[in-house]
Amino acid sequence: MSESVISLKDCWKIYRTGEIELTALREVYVEINKGDFAVIMGPSGSGKSTLMNIIGCLDRMDRGEYLLNGSNIRQMRPNDLALLRNQEIGFVFQSFNLLPKLDLIENVELPMIYAGIPRRERNERAMAALESVGLMPWIKHKPNEVSGGQKQRAAIARSIVMKPALLIADEPTGNLDTKSSKEIMDIFTELNRRGATIILITHEDDIAAYAKRIIRIVDGRITSDKAVG
Ligand SMILES: Nc1ncnc2c1ncn2[C@@H]1O[C@H](COP(=O)(O)OP(=O)(O)OP(=O)(O)O)[C@@H](O)[C@H]1O
Ligand SMILES: [Mg+2]
Repeated sequence: MSESVISLKDCWKIYRTGEIELTALREVYVEINKGDFAVIMGPSGSGKSTLMNIIGCLDRMDRGEYLLNGSNIRQMRPNDLALLRNQEIGFVFQSFNLLPKLDLIENVELPMIYAGIPRRERNERAMAALESVGLMPWIKHKPNEVSGGQKQRAAIARSIVMKPALLIADEPTGNLDTKSSKEIMDIFTELNRRGATIILITHEDDIAAYAKRIIRIVDGRITSDKAVG
């Protein structure tokens, strides 16, 4: 039997803004197993980022059940949830979300500082992660001193240093040119080949082509979920 990383059942998300209610997710079921490489596709406003934020424990759902690596997310206290998120999930965003005042290696060390990992181990693991994405020459550069593709590679290095159960990426190539996008997708593919479980949002068919599975979402509902390739 495959090992379940995500088991999301009957997930609903309703945004309330003043008098207005907007149902962003309805009756969503997602099962992700260890080693999956899934993309989420769908029109703008269909609920992709909402779903990703719930999967990433950045936002709470209004109804449903969510097991992440066996932990029941809805029953966790905020502090425990923050710890679990830091240890089990690596995040990659379209806008990189690196801290501008820190150089690349310091950015990559950050999740390990939160986790209380000693300095020497932090440094070794950050170097190994940066090496694996080909960034050794730039580790002492600040984010604004490197290219978009290099920033995203640093963000990926940061996302993998805690050896999370899951990598999630919301349009990670959305701000990148074709060549850098391909480099980033090659890195995700290699991480998946070595065992990483990945969920990635994209609008683009040629990015989706790297995945093993395509989940389509329309108007807050999953309309198809198929193995590909
Ligand atoms: N914080 C919020 N408050 C109120 N409504 C929201 C909020 N975040 C998202 N929405 C609404 O929920 C719906 C789903 O939004 P979401 O950001 O998940 O879409 P998306 O599929 O990621 O779109 P895009 O492709 O443009 O990024 C949209 O109608 C959006 O306007
Ligand atoms: Mg979005």
